[in-house]
Amino acid sequence: MTDYQKLYNHSINNSEQFWLDAARDIHWDKFPAIAIDQSDPPFYRWYPDGLTNACYNAVDYHVENGRADQTAIIYDSAVTDDSTKITYAALLGRVAKVAGLLQQSGVGKGDRVIVYMPMIPEAVIAMLACARIGAVHSVVFGGFAANELAVRIDDCKPKAILAASCGLEPGRTVEYKPLLDQAIDLAAHKPDHCYIWQREQARASMIEGRDFDWRESETQASPADCIAVESNHPLYILYTSGTTGAPKGVVRDTGGSIVSLKWTMKNIYGVEPGEVYWAASDVGWVVGHSYIVYAPLFHGNTTVLYEGKPVGTPDPGAFWRVISEHNVSVLFTAPTAFRAIKKEDPGGEYLKNYDMSCFRYLFLAGERCDPDTLQWAKDKLKVPVIDHWWQTETGWSIATNCAGVELLPIKSGSPTKPAPGYKLKVLDSDGNDCKACDIGALVVESPLPPGTFPTLWEAPDRYVSSYFANYPGHYETGDAGFIDEDGYVFVMSRTDDVINVAGHRLSTGAMEEVLAGHPDVAECAVMGVADNLKGQVPLGMLVLNSGCNRSNEDICKEVIQKVRDEIGPVAAFKSAVVVKRLPKTRSGKILRATMRCIADGSEWKMPATIDDPAILEEITESLKSIGYATQ
Ligand code: COA
Ligand code: AMP
Repeated sequence: MTDYQKLYNHSINNSEQFWLDAARDIHWDKFPAIAIDQSDPPFYRWYPDGLTNACYNAVDYHVENGRADQTAIIYDSAVTDDSTKITYAALLGRVAKVAGLLQQSGVGKGDRVIVYMPMIPEAVIAMLACARIGAVHSVVFGGFAANELAVRIDDCKPKAILAASCGLEPGRTVEYKPLLDQAIDLAAHKPDHCYIWQREQARASMIEGRDFDWRESETQASPADCIAVESNHPLYILYTSGTTGAPKGVVRDTGGSIVSLKWTMKNIYGVEPGEVYWAASDVGWVVGHSYIVYAPLFHGNTTVLYEGKPVGTPDPGAFWRVISEHNVSVLFTAPTAFRAIKKEDPGGEYLKNYDMSCFRYLFLAGERCDPDTLQWAKDKLKVPVIDHWWQTETGWSIATNCAGVELLPIKSGSPTKPAPGYKLKVLDSDGNDCKACDIGALVVESPLPPGTFPTLWEAPDRYVSSYFANYPGHYETGDAGFIDEDGYVFVMSRTDDVINVAGHRLSTGAMEEVLAGHPDVAECAVMGVADNLKGQVPLGMLVLNSGCNRSNEDICKEVIQKVRDEIGPVAAFKSAVVVKRLPKTRSGKILRATMRCIADGSEWKMPATIDDPAILEEITESLKSIGYATQ
């Protein structure tokens, strides 16, 4: 039996012992005597009687145990040409002060704090400061518009907001403060205070009595100590797209997250404390939470905070520069970043300028990894390229190749095998196990391992109905796929209306709500169509109100702008077309999947339940007019 198999079997057959052993590797104020409370399924509680603090484990512990002078964060900005190193000791000083600042403005244990920040060290400091005093942070990605921020403000009702004056996108300064002001105006809930980190590129104007200059307030604040919290105390809320427009507030607990994330650093990523680890993502996404901030710091690594893109900042050698300049051992990013590099530098010429001898593994996740990209990365980098599959809900990978345990042979198109702790199954629509290689719903038998999500923020019913209702006793991932004869997992597609745009998860339902809000739109559908760079991009089909005599082109431009304004540029909603009618089943369900196949030029069958087959010919013509359905 392979080392992986032994470890996996142990994690499933003796799960409580396995996770209690792993728990010994972190600092506890009170070590848990109980591994898991299973009294109220599906609301499982890991380490119910443990007390600990995430900030202590990420920062103070290392300062007290010989890493005070080690670099904790390398901030590398390819947009400002700035590179700064922050030691663990310096990080502690700043985090304690920001925690003090929050405490002095009335934020206490359990209060929520929204963090709306670009990729600068203050984003990490803000998160850790909240964790230090038991406040619950909710980071909102900078690419979202004011309306999305407002929805999150109303859902988690923050006492304070920590934000920066602006973010820097290549060739464009994104002023965050006007978006924040607009969001607070839109929201019913109002935060007491906002602390604004002023960046020189765009200084923000402040609202007297509510907004404060972060730098000044930090200087004046007294440092705050870590507060030991119950293991199940929420560390953070992170909103993610579901089927409908209302985002889901995924709750992460404290003890389970520290244990599992620290465990993954050695066992999955194969890194040792002290090494440099880089997740090229954004703090606004789950990858950023887990692998820019928490896991590398729990493990005593140096983490890289990169403000820039894989290409254009300034060229497709940007990633290689960061790796060689900062001695990076492991890089974790999304396949789309590699597709972007490959497109601009197919021969890998830029690699020749850099010494990459420090580099050991490339991990990819966030979307299905196409075999071409995997092969290209492997050929050029000459290191193992490891696809692994995970979700905002799980916080760490469900299926992976555990590089730190044993590197299994890589099968292109597969994120390898279930991670220890996940009893992964493929079930058919009746809930029966599928045979090897048969596609079905990918589900995980309860309980999920530590560090996943014990509930949705103030929505326990939605937690049950969204994830545990269809396959009782199992967590439904929302992904469809299969497991082959060798036990390799293949993740093929989502089973809901979630699409993946450049590794960003978005809801087509939310975009449809925006389109439907246009006064000339009678009916609409949004679907994810194939895109060479971003994997998928959204495409909108509009049916106009009868009697509308405005130009189709103007209306399409307006809905595109509307999605940008209401959801944000990150939605990458750039194509819309007016059609006479939408194809539907006899019961009135819009046939999005069929339209998607037509748009992609892939094979499709006439659905037996379609009410009028002629509509599909009209749809094909409309799609051709905007460059789709060409094959
Ligand atoms: N704040 C404000 N706007 C943002 C933003 C932020 N933090 N992040 C992205 N945007 C904007 C971009 O400026 C762009 O706007 P535009 O329509 O005016 O050009 C839009 O949102 C889409 O951004 P992005 O998805 O980054 O696409 P891109 O075309 O600029 O770049 C890639 C394409 C592939 C280079 C880019 O998606 C990338 O680097 N992906 C890496 C993968 C990743 O980080 N995945 C996260 C999960 S692991
Ligand atoms: P997010 O919650 O934003 O991390 O998105 C999670 C979704 O991205 C998953 O449910 C999958 O649909 C998709 N995904 C993530 N990683 C992979 C992967 N390695 N292979 C296939 N799909 C993936």
